[in-house]
Amino acid sequence: MSRFYITTPIYYVNDVPHIGHAYTTVLVDAFARWHNLLGEETFMLTGTDEHGLKIARTAEENGVTPLDQADSTSVRFRDAWEQLGIRNDDFIRTTEPRHHAAVQALMQKVYDNGWIYSDTYEGLYCVSCEAYYTEDELNDGNCKVHDKPAEQMREENYFFKLSAFADQLLDYFENTPGVVQPEGYRNEVLGLLRQELRDVSISRSSIDWGIPVPWDDDHVFYVWYDALINYVTAVGYGADPERFDEWWPSVHHVLGKDIIRFHCVFWPAMLLAAGITDLPTYYVHGWLLIGGEKMSKSKLNSVSPAQLIDGDEDQGYASFGVDGFRYHFLRDPAFGPDSDFSYESMISRYNTDLANQFGNLLQRVITVTGKKCGETSPAPNPDASLGALAAVAVEETTAAWARAQPPIALDATWRLIRETNEYLAANEPWKMEPGAAVDAVMGDALEALRIACILAEPAIPNGAQTAWERIGLPGRVADQRIPDDTAWGGYPGGLTLQAGDPLYPRLKG
Ligand code: MSP
Repeated sequence: MSRFYITTPIYYVNDVPHIGHAYTTVLVDAFARWHNLLGEETFMLTGTDEHGLKIARTAEENGVTPLDQADSTSVRFRDAWEQLGIRNDDFIRTTEPRHHAAVQALMQKVYDNGWIYSDTYEGLYCVSCEAYYTEDELNDGNCKVHDKPAEQMREENYFFKLSAFADQLLDYFENTPGVVQPEGYRNEVLGLLRQELRDVSISRSSIDWGIPVPWDDDHVFYVWYDALINYVTAVGYGADPERFDEWWPSVHHVLGKDIIRFHCVFWPAMLLAAGITDLPTYYVHGWLLIGGEKMSKSKLNSVSPAQLIDGDEDQGYASFGVDGFRYHFLRDPAFGPDSDFSYESMISRYNTDLANQFGNLLQRVITVTGKKCGETSPAPNPDASLGALAAVAVEETTAAWARAQPPIALDATWRLIRETNEYLAANEPWKMEPGAAVDAVMGDALEALRIACILAEPAIPNGAQTAWERIGLPGRVADQRIPDDTAWGGYPGGLTLQAGDPLYPRLKG
C-alpha cells in the first residue's frame, strides 16, 4: 500500500493559536484526509517548536520558566486542533526526550561525516525570525518580516558546510517534477540556490534553552536545526530504522512562504549531509493577512479559531462551526498567494455553499423522498444524466487535490452539488405523483449526494458524516475509497432516511 506522510510546520509557543496557524493546519488535515480516501496509508504530524531565544525571552517577560511557557502554550495548540477536527496521528514537542535523542543522533552523523566546523560569527540577528541577515536583506536595519531592528550579535559557533550541497540541491529542485507546489515557489527556491550559498551557523553558546551539542556541552543547537529535525524524529529516526524507512520517502511538508529558505535550502542539505537521500516534497501557501498585515499577537490583530467556530458577540462574529471554518479556509484563499481575511466573504461562502447548496440539497432530498417515495428510498438509474456529471466532478476534484489546489478541488465538488439542486429544480419532483418517475429523480439525487459526501469529507467532515447517516448509509464516510466508492450506482436504495434540523442554518451577514 502506498504511504503519504504530511507535516505542518511546528508552531512557536510564544504566540497562541490564531487563524493563520489554523489555516496551515486545516490544509494539512484536508490533504491527509484526501489521501486517506484515495486508499493510501497516511500519517499526519503537527506539534510545537519550543526552544530558542524567542521562547526564552517570552518566558522571561511572563515571569515563568521556558518549559512552563512551552507546556501551557503547547496545550493550547493541541486543544485548538482538537476543536477543529484535526486528525493528526502525532503531536510532537521539541522538548520531548525522543526529539532530543533524534537531534543529537542526526547532528552527530553530520559532524562525523565532516560537514560541521567551528568559527566565530558576527552579524545582524532578528530574534523573531531566529535568523542572521546581511544589511541588504534588511529594510533600514529592520527585519522585513517583523519590521523590527535586527540586533548585532557575536558568537563562537559551529557551522554547517551548506555551500558544499548547492549543486546537488539545484539538481533536485530542477529535475524533480512537482517538488514544490505551486510552481512559482519552485522558481523562488531555484533563485535562492543560484545565489552564492554561505555556510550557516547551527549552534549558540549565548543561551542554554536548547538541545546540547553532543560533542561540545557549551553549545546548544540553533533552534531552527533542532526544529526541522522534528520531521524525522516523529517517524522514528535513530530509534526505529524500519519505521523511518517506511515513512520518510513519502514526506510532504506544508509551510507558509516565510519559511521557504529553511525548509527548501537548509533542511534538504542537512538531510544529505546526514546520509538521507530521499528529499521532501513541498506545498507552500501564502500569508493570511488582516487589513493587509501579517497576523501576530504583537500587532494585536490576531483572531483565534474559537472566535469564529463558536462565535464572538463582542466582535460581532457569528458561529460558523467546525465545518464552516474549515470550508472557508480551504475554499476561499487561493493556494499560493497572500490573501486578506474577509469576514464578509466567510459569511457569504457559508451561506451560499453550505446553507443554500449542501444543506438545502440534503433537506430537499429527505423531505421529498419521504413524501413521495414510500417507506424506503429509491435506487439510482444506471445511466442517469447526473451520473455523467458526477464522474466529471470525481475526476476534476481528484486532479485538483493532486496539484495541491484545495480551492479548485472544492469548486469541482460543489459544482456537482449545485447541478443536483438544479436537476431537482428542473424536474420539480415535489409536484409529481408517487410512482416510477419521482423514484427515478430522487434515486439519482440521493446517489449524487452520496458521492458529494465522499468528495467533500476532507473539508466538511462533520456535515458529510451527518448527511451520510441521514440518507440511510451505514458506516463512516471517511472509510470510503476513491474512485471505487465514487463510481455511479453505489447508493443501494431501500434505506430509511432520517429527517433532522438544518445542517447549516443560514447566518446573518
Ligand atoms: N517554528 C517555526 C517553524 C518551524 S518548522 C520546522 C515557525 N513557527 S510559526 O508559528 O511562526 O509559524 C509557523 C507557520 O504558521 C507558518 O509557516 C505558516 O505556515 C503558519 N502561519 C503563521 N502565521 C500565518 C499567517 N498569518 N498566514 C498564514 N500562515 C501563517 O515559523
